[in-house]
Amino acid sequence: MMKLRFVITAGPTREYLDPVRFLSNPSSGRMGFSIARAAARRGHEVVLVAGPVQLRTPKGVRRVDVSSAREMLGAVETALAENGGKDAASTFFIATAAVADWRPKRMAAEKLKKGEMSGVLELVRNPDILKSVKGARKIGFAAETGAKLDEAVRKCREKSTEMIVFNDVTSPGAGFGTATNRVTFVHASGKLETLPLMSKQAIGARIVRFCEGLEKCPKT
Ligand code: CTP
Repeated sequence: MMKLRFVITAGPTREYLDPVRFLSNPSSGRMGFSIARAAARRGHEVVLVAGPVQLRTPKGVRRVDVSSAREMLGAVETALAENGGKDAASTFFIATAAVADWRPKRMAAEKLKKGEMSGVLELVRNPDILKSVKGARKIGFAAETGAKLDEAVRKCREKSTEMIVFNDVTSPGAGFGTATNRVTFVHASGKLETLPLMSKQAIGARIVRFCEGLEKCPKT
């Protein structure tokens, strides 16, 4: 089997409004760390770009810690540019991170006083990391509240991914911080593959095997 290269984002991002306050979300990073662990166990080269999470780095994985969405994008671009001699067909970008779509327009240099808070939350859009990445086969995630598979199909098309891994965060055993998840693979071809409730580790292994299968197909 050919050795592949994986660049994986995981966890939340933090968007600071002053040195002690930020916008974020409760992503644990587990799904991305599970994929990274599975890929390293299969002998692949792995760069894991992690937001602030409380997880140990899997063995054989190179980890780059970041905080904001813009830092995450920069670290991903650096990792992909290094590419280790691999072509785009054997390089996989897997976006599991729960990236903040917006950030405060300004970050105050000093801690804001309560009297200064009103009106400071003017937001601007963050870059879409998954959409903007080039030079790799891409796999995305779509965590939705409810069975919104059509949203996953739309994201697959808009972000030019080979597959979107859909999950309904309101489904029992699925979602933020759990060790298990219930996912549907939404393929670029339109094919849907619904998996039972599984450990995030087992889902990670399935995703790595999907990538190994794709590597044999020419990149479109
Ligand atoms: N993603 C990303 N950068 C962003 C936003 C999302 O890389 N700024 C990636 C996520 O890691 C995930 C996929 O895009 O793999 C879908 O994320 P999601 O938040 O569901 O999508 P959005 O494009 O933010 O869609 P919407 O707000 O319309 O639901």
